[in-house]
Amino acid sequence: MNPPTSRPYRAAIIGTGGIARVHAKALKALAPRIELVAVADVDPDRARAFAAEFAVPSVHTDAAALLAGHGLDLVSICTPPQSHAPLAALAQRAGVVPLVEKPTTLNLRELDELRAVEEETGVPVLTVFQHRFGAAGRLLARLVAEGGLGRPQVATCETLWYRDDAYFGVPWRGRWDVEGGGPTMGHGIHQFDLLLAILGPWAEVTAFAARQSRPTDTEDVSLALARFENGALATVVNSVVSPRESSRLRFDFEFATVEVEHVYGYTTADWTFTPAPGHEELAALWQPDATGGTSGHGDQLAAILDAFDAGTPPEASLTQARRTLEFAAATYASAFRGRPIAAGEIGPDDPFAATMSGGMVPWAPLKEALV
Ligand SMILES: NC(=O)c1ccc[n+]([C@@H]2O[C@H](COP(=O)([O-])OP(=O)(O)OC[C@H]3O[C@@H](n4cnc5c(N)ncnc54)[C@H](O)[C@@H]3O)[C@@H](O)[C@H]2O)c1
Repeated sequence: MNPPTSRPYRAAIIGTGGIARVHAKALKALAPRIELVAVADVDPDRARAFAAEFAVPSVHTDAAALLAGHGLDLVSICTPPQSHAPLAALAQRAGVVPLVEKPTTLNLRELDELRAVEEETGVPVLTVFQHRFGAAGRLLARLVAEGGLGRPQVATCETLWYRDDAYFGVPWRGRWDVEGGGPTMGHGIHQFDLLLAILGPWAEVTAFAARQSRPTDTEDVSLALARFENGALATVVNSVVSPRESSRLRFDFEFATVEVEHVYGYTTADWTFTPAPGHEELAALWQPDATGGTSGHGDQLAAILDAFDAGTPPEASLTQARRTLEFAAATYASAFRGRPIAAGEIGPDDPFAATMSGGMVPWAPLKEALV
């Protein structure tokens, strides 16, 4: 892959539903660095209405035709999760970098297939993990890498959201075979991706998962305890049954506590930095760029274009996404097997590599539960 720098980059979107609007607005805001030149959706009316709204010149119902025709550099894949892997591979083979909405794939096996296509074609797959890209999150990652905050000791990561029953009326939601999982895969994944980006490789997970009250086949709550290679311990809670919504991350390092509370995206103002007694001078290090950094799609897209310009690999690569997806798989495997799961333990033939349910869900599928 060798994107040009002498003309604007050329982007397209596959899947013109809810989140595609966020991609379109972010791409438009990045003009003239990048142009949104084409969209595709299996629903032609939806694609046409979307193209009219965002002044996109070319409309397709066939993703392959879109990928073949426009000299694209980047394609946002904004379809439901079960089509992420096939569409990403199609884009790689067409020489176009796919930016895939989360979760990257339904399971580890699909993700490893994309890694094989990446080796074959040289085209990377990027995942939308926008919380990595806010100014405060980036500053924290840098301070941790430099070691000035001391050893990370304990962390909490909560995605406590509320989705009513009607939300799950959309046919692809709440099903293992099309969404991949519940809030572990679809909602909390943003927040624990940032946790993992800050704390580094995880070593072991012990978890619970339950379907408390939503009309889903998947869990609506999960809770994991994690130990990291560097010795840090963390709790991760993912919920869609929490009436007061909150997304929270807290890191206690030897010399400072760093925390953020927001709902769907943070600004710099949502973070606090508290030095430990005797380490007050560290407060001077906490100076995130107050002008930007909203942890939105625009921040990630700008970082991708910066990497294209520099000829360096963009962040949120398949290697990084795999660590996050393996954490989700370990959460399910631990919850359903009733024992701790070590990093690397879910091998290619493990049922939890093939599907996040592992074929071991202890509650009845929805249709049976309703009878
Ligand atoms: N990053 C975030 O913050 C965030 C937020 C919401 C949703 N998402 C993710 O975005 C993805 C889409 O979610 P949504 O809420 O926009 O869904 P949606 O149902 O609103 O839209 C999906 C669109 O994809 C189209 N589509 C389905 N299969 C297709 C195919 N094979 N080719 C072309 N078009 C196809 C559908 O017709 C529909 O228009 C999901 O993976 C979801 O998890 C991410």
